[in-house]
Amino acid sequence: MKRFYLESYGCQMNVYDTQGLARMLEDHAFVRVAEPETADVVLVNTCSVREHAEERTLNRLAVLGRLKAQNPNMKLGVCGCMAQRMGAEIKKRVPRVDLVVGAQALPAVLPALEALDRGEKPGPQVEPLDHYLPPPRPRFDAKNLKGFVTIIRGCNKACAYCIVPTTRGPEVSRHPDDLVLEVHELVLQGAREITLLGQNVNSYESAGVDFPELLARCGKVPGKWRLRFTTSHPRDMSREVMRRMAAAPRLAPWIHLPVQSGSPRVLKAMNRDYSLEHYLDVIEAAREAIPDLALTTDLIVGFPGETEAEFEETVGLVERLRYDTFYAFKYSPRSGTAAARLPDDIPSELKQARLARLLVVQRRLAHEVNQTYVGRKLEVLIEGADSRRGHVLSRTGQNKIVVLEPQEIAPGTFRDAIIERAEGQTLYGRLCASA
Ligand code: 5AD
Ligand code: SF4
Repeated sequence: MKRFYLESYGCQMNVYDTQGLARMLEDHAFVRVAEPETADVVLVNTCSVREHAEERTLNRLAVLGRLKAQNPNMKLGVCGCMAQRMGAEIKKRVPRVDLVVGAQALPAVLPALEALDRGEKPGPQVEPLDHYLPPPRPRFDAKNLKGFVTIIRGCNKACAYCIVPTTRGPEVSRHPDDLVLEVHELVLQGAREITLLGQNVNSYESAGVDFPELLARCGKVPGKWRLRFTTSHPRDMSREVMRRMAAAPRLAPWIHLPVQSGSPRVLKAMNRDYSLEHYLDVIEAAREAIPDLALTTDLIVGFPGETEAEFEETVGLVERLRYDTFYAFKYSPRSGTAAARLPDDIPSELKQARLARLLVVQRRLAHEVNQTYVGRKLEVLIEGADSRRGHVLSRTGQNKIVVLEPQEIAPGTFRDAIIERAEGQTLYGRLCASA
């Protein structure tokens, strides 16, 4: 029996892939362990979205490589987006790496491990991007309550800064029957919240089923559970999806709609494929259609040529739209992308200062927006007790944590709660008497 240890970086889709990898190894008589020190096989599933993520991972690989000095039988493998992007370069940077398997070819991990056992040295396994080999679907751990299902992989957009089309290739949607089955199984196994995943879920299309129709089909799976999806693209987020969200209580009232910049010039330079007016229209329609909608976004600061005034347009947009929360990143040039040909001309300190400024605005806005929740009655999913004070943690459809007084209540239960106060990002509430 061999022991494996697995680490995952990056997005939820990578987490899903990592869980699939774990299942594949477990199905082949490997046992998962929690520490790399005791493992025969150490695998790292990587992310390339920003250079910082790659540098951190290379440092981590160097540390894991040193473990091999004490355990010469250990095999060290790199999978996922960095493997896809860098291929053989990874072994040059971290010579102790034994195998490199790209995001498009994860099942190749098994034959590569077998080859290593035979004393061979397998080269990087990087399938061409239009030839995708999926890992098996993950096993679900009922304790988690939350299940994830990748419905569409890859991306057909060409945002100037983004590496994803290079690492994950063009869009490939999974068959709707498989997806409904997977959702059904997850619910039967105890999932209470299921998130459909994709770089751009709105462009899902398979066997004549589009995204709104897929939502309708998945939503019909019986039981008490809620459905979310991420990430949406402003260009493809349709009125039909909004109507479905408004009509189906199963669909959580939360949309993550990355805008990236509030400047029309920067949006164009980013090749984002929508105008600011279009984005504002989408938000207005969504807020009108869906009661209690929570809205979140991603932002990039310091894109090449971003002036102070253009950055202020982003701040202005955030203030105007009053997002529930947002994720802001410093622009990181990725070789092979269109933006990498532009000078990375915003100094690092200025990017940092812009990021810091946005985070101040975020804290204030989160506080103000959360105050508007006080007094409201919302359905929460009980997730469990926090280890320090025994408070019960729960989550609303808007994806907000609500802290409840310590009490006996089973995780996985849905209940109504009244929000009593808000502090920073956190809401505090009490449960209504159960019906
Ligand atoms: N630099 C900085 N941030 C990036 N993102 C994607 N590519 C880059 C990059 N090169 C951000 C975007 C995206 C999120 C997942 O990561 O905001 O929505
Ligand atoms: Fe990172 Fe993008 Fe790959 Fe996800 S798809 S792991 S965010 S590079």
